[in-house]
Amino acid sequence: MQNSNSKTNSLKSSDHATILAIESSCDETSAAICRDGKILSNVIAGQKIHEQYGGVVPELASRAHMQNIVPVVHAALEKANISVHDLSDIDAIAFTQSPGLIGSLLVGTQFAKSLALALDRPLIAVHHMQAHVIANLIDDPRPSFPFLCLTVSGGHTQIVVCESPTQMKVIGETIDDAAGEAFDKSAKLLGLPYPGGPLIDKYAALGNPMRFKFPEPQVPGLDFSFSGLKTAILYFLQNAGTSQVYKEEFKATTEEKNKFITENLNDICASIQHRIVSILLNKLKKAVAITGIHDVCLAGGVSANSGLRTAFIEMGRTQNLNTFIPAFEYCTDNAGMIAITGYYKYLAGQFADLSVGATARAEW
Ligand code: KG4
Ligand code: ZN
Repeated sequence: MQNSNSKTNSLKSSDHATILAIESSCDETSAAICRDGKILSNVIAGQKIHEQYGGVVPELASRAHMQNIVPVVHAALEKANISVHDLSDIDAIAFTQSPGLIGSLLVGTQFAKSLALALDRPLIAVHHMQAHVIANLIDDPRPSFPFLCLTVSGGHTQIVVCESPTQMKVIGETIDDAAGEAFDKSAKLLGLPYPGGPLIDKYAALGNPMRFKFPEPQVPGLDFSFSGLKTAILYFLQNAGTSQVYKEEFKATTEEKNKFITENLNDICASIQHRIVSILLNKLKKAVAITGIHDVCLAGGVSANSGLRTAFIEMGRTQNLNTFIPAFEYCTDNAGMIAITGYYKYLAGQFADLSVGATARAEW
C-alpha cells in the first residue's frame, strides 16, 4: 500500500513542509521538527546505562528507546510550538530505517509507522549515514553541489561524493574498524569508560601529539584501516611505552603499565588522536586530488573531535578548499539530520510504503 494522500500531492511541488523525524539507530533517542528546511527543535535523550558495560548493550538500548520515545517526541513538538493534541500541521513522518542496531531501529520505525497511519500522513525512510552527510545543509554557510564529505562515526568511516540532497555515492570506506571505534577501543585500552572518543579529545588537548609515533597504515585507494593502529597501541601499552617497535614478546607488569598510562595519559591521547586525524585527512586530501571537488564537509560523531575540526579547517586554509562542519548538536546522532533529509526526500516525492521494515545493514 502506498501511503499517499491528497495533502502529500498538493505539497510535493512546493517548498513548504513540516516534518516530524525520529532517530533511534543506536543509543540516542531523538525527535526533531523541520519546517521549510529549518530545524525548529532537536531533542536528544542519551542512554547512560551503557557506560558501566564498556559499550552499547543492544537489548538495553531498545528498552531505553521504548521508555524515551514518547517523552522525547512530546518535547520536540512542544519546543516547536506544536500542540501534542493537534498534529494537523505535520506533513510527513521521517525515521531512520537503517543502518543500526535492529532492536533500536525497530522502536523508531514502529513508532513512525503508527503515527503516519494514525495521522494519515506519508512516511519517509531515511538512511542514517546519508543523513549525517545532509546535516551539512542545516545551517548557513552551506556547501555547493557536488561536495565531498568525510563521514566519521562509531560504525562507519566513509568518503562520499554528494551530488544533490538525495543523490550520493561512497568512494572510500574503512575495511575494518571505524574511526569512532578506533577512538573508543583505544580509550578502553587506556582504562577509560565508554564512549571514550570525547575523553581522548579532552586529554589530548593537554598533551604533546608528537611524543609517541603510531604507525600509519598503507591501504590502497581511498579506503581506510584502523585495526592495525589498535594492535600497535595494545602492544605499546603492554610494553609500558618502553618499545617504539610495538613488540608483542616483552610485557610490562600490570602495575608498570598502569603507572605508565597514569603518568603519560595526556601525551598518549594526543599521539593517538594525532594519528587517527592524519589517517583521515590524508585520504580526504587524496579524494580532493582525484575528484577536483573543492567544497569539503565533515559529518558523524567523530566530527565533534576538536583535533579533527582544527586540522580539517587548517587543511582547507592551506589547500584553498571551502570547508564545512555541522553545528555540534548535528554531529553526533540526532533527529535534526533525519528531519532535514526527510524534508528533501519529501520535496523529491520519495515516500516509503507502510510495509517498510528496519534493516541493520543497507545499500546506498
Ligand atoms: O555518529 P555517532 O554519534 O553514532 C554513530 O552513528 O556511530 O558517532 C559516535 C562516535 C563514537 O565512537 C564516539 O566516541 C565518537 O563518535 N565521538 C568522538 C567525539 N565525540 C563523539 N570521537 C572523538 N572525539 C570526540 N569529541
Ligand atoms: Zn551516527
